[in-house]
Amino acid sequence: MDGLTTVIFPVAGLGTRMLPATKATPKELLPVYDTPLLQFALDEAIAAGAKRVVLVSHPDKSAIEDYLTSAPALEESLTRKGKADLLRALRATCLPDGVDLRVVHQPEPLGLGHAVLCGAEAVLPGPVGVILPDDLILGDPCLAEMAAAFRPGEMRSLTAAQEVPAGQVDRYGIFACPPGAPGEAIPCTAFVEKPAIADAPSRLAAVGRYILDAAVFDVLRDTGKGAGGEIQLTDAIARMGGIHAFRFSGTRYDCGGKDGLVEATLAVQALRRGAAGRPRIAAE
Ligand code: G1P
Repeated sequence: MDGLTTVIFPVAGLGTRMLPATKATPKELLPVYDTPLLQFALDEAIAAGAKRVVLVSHPDKSAIEDYLTSAPALEESLTRKGKADLLRALRATCLPDGVDLRVVHQPEPLGLGHAVLCGAEAVLPGPVGVILPDDLILGDPCLAEMAAAFRPGEMRSLTAAQEVPAGQVDRYGIFACPPGAPGEAIPCTAFVEKPAIADAPSRLAAVGRYILDAAVFDVLRDTGKGAGGEIQLTDAIARMGGIHAFRFSGTRYDCGGKDGLVEATLAVQALRRGAAGRPRIAAE
């Protein structure tokens, strides 16, 4: 397809895995070297063609909206001091012209499926993208790769996927499908949220990038609680049928945990040193 118009960001989670760092700072604003996780995700959405960003947030996380608001006094001060690089980096935090922002709230943590459903009224027509900012993917922009492989009508969903160690399958949505080739949409016969290790159909796990037919909202309205007592996006995708997995080319870091955030920070440090002065990674 040509490009995604809407990308939903479920950012209502309270980030308890990262306490106390997330006591007063939303986990999406934790820095990876010099840039908040959220910024990487926004850059990736824009690289995929997004014209609308829907944040599904929590009333206690207004710092995220502050981050996306222009800071005229700071801009003026940097301009006066001639700090052009910092000014450019600061301005890059605002969505570019032609991309609008909608913020909706998910008041209770009822699951990823419920979070996506909270965004239903805010999306533009057509398939929607979903990015979980905790899953940082460096390298070629993953959602843009997926948009190029997604065929609306023929596919109901396309989900980023990577092999995980057998002992970790119970932390992920797991696909039943042939191995497939990188860059291809791989048709799957099943998609199971956090299966027990003994029941997992494969080691191919979902990573936080999705392209979904808009029919997903109706399916979610009718999807009951699943694994962990939560309304699972995985269950709605499985119920829609037409499941496809996508092996992306980049490297994924689980930044919902401390070690993943440190690994990502070191990777971005290395990238910055190799490309001095370039403020963004996802669009590179
Ligand atoms: C969510 C999804 C899961 C997916 C994972 C990727 O789980 O429910 O299917 O594999 O993201 O990060 P969570 O990590 O929110 O428990």
